[in-house]
Amino acid sequence: MAYPYQIRTLDQYHQEYKRSVENPEEFWDEVASNFQWKKKWDKVLNWNFKEPKVEWFINGKLNITENCIDRHLASMGEKPAIIWEPNNPEERVRIVTYNRLHKRVCQVAQMLHNLGVKKGDRVCIYMGMIPELVYAVLGCARIGAIHSVIFGGFSAQSIADRLYDADAEFIITCDGAFRGNKDIPLKSIIDDALIGNRSVKKVIVYTRTRTPVSMLKGRDVWWEDEMEHAEHQVEKDGKVYFPAEEMDAEDPLFILYTSGSTGKPKGVVHSSAGYMVWTNYTFVNTFQYQPGDVHFCTADIGWITGHSYIIYGPLSAGGTSLMFEGIPTWPDAGRFWDIVDRHKVNILYTAPTAIRSLMGFGLDPIKGKDLSSLRILGTVGEPINEEAWHWYDDNIGKNRCPIVDTWWQTETGGVLISNLAGVTPAIPSWASLPLPGVQPILVDENGNEITERDENGIIKGNLCIKAPWPSTIRTTYGDHERCRTNYFSAYENLYFTGDGAMKDEKGNYRITGRVDDVLNVSGHRLGTAEVENAINMHAGVVESAVVGYPHDIKGQGVYAFVIFEHLHSDENLTRQDILQTVTRIIGPIAKPDKIQFVSGLPKTRSGKIMRRILRKIAEGDTSNLGDTTTLLDPGIVEEIKNGRL
Ligand code: PRX
Repeated sequence: MAYPYQIRTLDQYHQEYKRSVENPEEFWDEVASNFQWKKKWDKVLNWNFKEPKVEWFINGKLNITENCIDRHLASMGEKPAIIWEPNNPEERVRIVTYNRLHKRVCQVAQMLHNLGVKKGDRVCIYMGMIPELVYAVLGCARIGAIHSVIFGGFSAQSIADRLYDADAEFIITCDGAFRGNKDIPLKSIIDDALIGNRSVKKVIVYTRTRTPVSMLKGRDVWWEDEMEHAEHQVEKDGKVYFPAEEMDAEDPLFILYTSGSTGKPKGVVHSSAGYMVWTNYTFVNTFQYQPGDVHFCTADIGWITGHSYIIYGPLSAGGTSLMFEGIPTWPDAGRFWDIVDRHKVNILYTAPTAIRSLMGFGLDPIKGKDLSSLRILGTVGEPINEEAWHWYDDNIGKNRCPIVDTWWQTETGGVLISNLAGVTPAIPSWASLPLPGVQPILVDENGNEITERDENGIIKGNLCIKAPWPSTIRTTYGDHERCRTNYFSAYENLYFTGDGAMKDEKGNYRITGRVDDVLNVSGHRLGTAEVENAINMHAGVVESAVVGYPHDIKGQGVYAFVIFEHLHSDENLTRQDILQTVTRIIGPIAKPDKIQFVSGLPKTRSGKIMRRILRKIAEGDTSNLGDTTTLLDPGIVEEIKNGRL
């Protein structure tokens, strides 16, 4: 069998789960021995959640790119590693074989080396969804540089903050990116981000849209020129070679910024070995990947899903990963189905928000599309409502493809709770069972395990994890204390996910959503404080409070209550102005859906905003707002209720 650690039956799942919990070191020792190491580990695991310290495969040495590329070359060199579907369906599809991927990654590594990038340096990558983005990511990993990919929807200001936080000296970008009928001027956004920046030494620019760009002498270089030069260096006697840096198992592989309940996004750091083992293990088991399958994950590589299930999981398993440059609704809402049909996709992994938005177009876009190659469907990013689940099951999977509802987070590196396709039962809107090695626990406000069941046999509580899995977050870049306070201090000796969950008598989990001040808008995480900070930057805004509300397509929408000084007659124009400011400070993804101007906010006498009340109003549930007598000005609630949008 291609993957000796692939679980194929329900009984086997239960056995493996038990073994992983009773003897984790032996369990992961076995799994990890299926990879290519430069030196074997001395010990499998060291940990305490107090500091926190989590170390896996101690003193093991490896390079993840040898596991994702080199080890497949002998048997699969001419097999497709990446199938790239361009934004414009008229443009040529690119099929990148493992041999070609190897060559390009070696070239990028050489190019980075030529430009002075060394092991441990932070390289910021701000590119569209093109194969060169994968080469850039893996090129960094090959020389041991830490990549920090930033999603194309973030503004110059957000990039500037991330560059500063990571003290990045190098950037890889494109002139522009195609997204539907738009061209996003990536290099120009980078130029804005670099105003006043003193750390960045080199910016490498790949030509995608051929938009005119400014190229600063001494700092900016063209990817094409540098790669051509590197090509001559890595190719000798018809062979391609660039040595893969020896990395310690615990050396950081990448930083990925994500929003939390505080104002500033934090740089989640993942390790080299633990992350590799986990993304591979979860890819092979959750999706039941079989050699030759075409796996289409529709996420952007700017998010963790793209890191783990477009790049590292599939490639480390020698798989074929389909990546897509565009958006699901352009040139029409049949885009995904057209891709599935043309490329004979076997596994489709997407987000509930995409499913809901495509549902809105009815069944016409599916007509005439052959979806019979599909074997497995997946969802990620937010709870999936039953209606969307059934639509996906009926119309896309034709009731013959298991749907995996995968729950996980940027911090967890890979899937923690999910059914295994066709192996463990799928229950609509339930993520279901933990993967081997994952020990969830539901606790109350004080961190005590909840064991009491309601009349339906359900336990409800805050979702924590009791012990580390190989790709546990290692730290938040440059600020370990922040990692501790965010994830390991709410409850002693537990990793706190920030999510609420339910558990049934069979041990299945249903994730109910965030219990902290984090919103999940179209599967993207946004901190309410982060959006408030951006709104408050707008001239004239006195104060604001942001909450989420149920949104048919996005899952959650952003509702902002704003106190504005001297509101002039055209409120709508002021709203547009505020949206512009939010777009500048964070990016278009954080724009509030609704902005209600108010004369005050419901505050306690100590000055704390009572978000519970605002949330209820935003949700349209004003029948029972709870006790408002402790408010400084109870009258304000009536005003806000009446002005609800
Ligand atoms: O609230 C959970 C939700 O998304 C959060 C993590 O967001 P992020 O780090 O951006 O990663 C998204 C992709 C892994 C979680 O705390 N979430 C993710 N997957 C699910 C989910 N909620 C319910 N069901 C899921 N399958």
